[in-house]
Amino acid sequence: MPGIRQNCFRDDGFYKLSRKSRLDRASKAPLGGTPLATPFPYQLTEASLDITRILVQMKAEEHFKNQDPLGWFEAVYAGANNDELAIPWANLTPNPHLLDWFDAHPMPLGKKALVVGCGLGDDAEELSRRGFSVTAFDISPTAIAWCKKRHPFSKVRYEALDLFQAPAGWTRYFDFVFEAYTLQSLQSPLREESIRALSRLVSSQGKLLVVTRGKEPQEQPEGPPWPLAKNDLAYFLQAGLQCDNFEDFIDDETPPIRRFRALYSPVS
Ligand SMILES: C[S@@+](CC[C@H](N)C(=O)[O-])C[C@H]1O[C@@H](n2cnc3c(N)ncnc32)[C@H](O)[C@@H]1O
Repeated sequence: MPGIRQNCFRDDGFYKLSRKSRLDRASKAPLGGTPLATPFPYQLTEASLDITRILVQMKAEEHFKNQDPLGWFEAVYAGANNDELAIPWANLTPNPHLLDWFDAHPMPLGKKALVVGCGLGDDAEELSRRGFSVTAFDISPTAIAWCKKRHPFSKVRYEALDLFQAPAGWTRYFDFVFEAYTLQSLQSPLREESIRALSRLVSSQGKLLVVTRGKEPQEQPEGPPWPLAKNDLAYFLQAGLQCDNFEDFIDDETPPIRRFRALYSPVS
């Protein structure tokens, strides 16, 4: 499949576009205007993204059966063979809910930021552009190698690392910790353990910004992803943080997705 997509889209900058733009573009003028290297009538649609998600869910399921609930991340990145379209969460642009937040709450230059489960590095690069000294990590060595390849002149320190093995020197070290979509890709009890591990990384005057899919407590969507209910986030409070701001909103994706954006800081 990636070969077919590359044949269809390789020459027109398609891979540089965000997933939304890719979908918009495919739906408005599928294959339009660009001479095809192959006559195969492949069109990128919401359905093809759903297929990617289903393939990822199947991979995750395989790992759960083998009692390896974290192994599927590396399997997904490695199996993608450098094709970003095989990574359902890779938008190749900074998270819009991070951008919004920073536009409204700029922070002084030179602060230390940490990006958790950084994926392909777009949020880390954005924070670096905004003057932070950034460390970004992901459990997948392939994702980290991919970040370094995508951003060869980056100032970000990328590390292949499991959150549960975070170095002791990171405890209470970071002025700004950003977590998007990692918690929703974990189930209990790993999710609660991750919340505890994350909470330890924020400095006494620091902030932690979390963006996640949201749901009502009684909803039981099939995942991954597994959206969080508001009470799932209460573990941050048990871990010694206070919630400074909480937003529950519907984003502008197609189809729209309910999200929570929450800001935490250590209780002083
Ligand atoms: C759904 S993806 C989101 C990636 C990125 N934050 C984004 O918004 O595009 C979740 C990421 O968390 C990483 N991850 C999951 N568990 C982790 C852990 N225990 N330590 C570090 N990274 C982890 C995965 O490899 C994956 O890249």
